[in-house]
Amino acid sequence: MGVKTSSSSEMASTLPLLVAENLSVTYQGSRGAVTAISDLSLEIQEGEFVSVIGPSGCGKSTLIKIFSGLLQPSKGQVRLKGTPIDKPRGDVGIVFQQATLLPWKSVLENVLVPARALNQDISVAEKKASELLRLIGLEKFSQHYPSELSGGMQQRVGIARGLIHDPDLLLMDEPFSALDTMTRDHMSIELQRIWMAARKSALFITHSIPEAVFLSDRIVVMSARPGSIVTEITIDLPRPRTLETLGDPQFILYCSELRTLFEKLVSFD
Ligand SMILES: Nc1ncnc2c1ncn2[C@@H]1O[C@H](COP(=O)(O)OP(=O)(O)OP(=O)(O)O)[C@@H](O)[C@H]1O
Ligand SMILES: [Mg+2]
Repeated sequence: MGVKTSSSSEMASTLPLLVAENLSVTYQGSRGAVTAISDLSLEIQEGEFVSVIGPSGCGKSTLIKIFSGLLQPSKGQVRLKGTPIDKPRGDVGIVFQQATLLPWKSVLENVLVPARALNQDISVAEKKASELLRLIGLEKFSQHYPSELSGGMQQRVGIARGLIHDPDLLLMDEPFSALDTMTRDHMSIELQRIWMAARKSALFITHSIPEAVFLSDRIVVMSARPGSIVTEITIDLPRPRTLETLGDPQFILYCSELRTLFEKLVSFD
């Protein structure tokens, strides 16, 4: 049997988009030092949808802060497309827990905020914003103000804003946690559709196991603080996933496996 060799271009295309190695973060809090993350390593492949679940306080938002360049780890390093993430950068988009839209700006202007901050060509960005508004089903709302939208609609605007500058990696920190259960299910389907159309890598933080299973190619499970990765599960369910997927025996099995695992991890201190 011959040895299979890869050309350099093949190897380049299989390099992970993001590589985090041995990350540790210690905060100097008012009551002393707190180690939030300890020796955490993670890779995200191009186009991959990865969710992170873990007990409250295990360092998930801390991880998002590092990957967005807002926080430097105390130890370890993180690279995106081979270069260190040492400051906020244009190839990363972020969607927060609350939509955090600017109330005095229209929907369109809110979506354009990152493009303006990055000094992008606004006529190009406006075209892209119209496409994104169509993608999230809000093209008729471009001149409305955030207060005229429902919570789910605002959150969709937040997702469009996270994608406007065409980032390679979209970071989402519990983006649906403020929404009711039925809106959340709907938003999961919406997000899957947007992600499948946009073809970005995504890192999604959630407390909802079914949401993580529904959306992900892979789920990373973190231990209680100091957080590190305990295990990861590949979700092998065909896409697009639909409301029927929620009743699929394999979907239910993934959820129950994760729930059992999670029960063992939760410890309150
Ligand atoms: N700026 C800070 N200064 C001191 N300690 C902090 C700071 N930010 C976070 N921490 C601590 O670090 C730990 C991890 O916080 P983090 O917000 O990353 O957790 P999380 O996993 O996102 O939690 P949750 O699921 O509740 O959102 C917590 O114990 C928290 O108290
Ligand atoms: Mg958090």
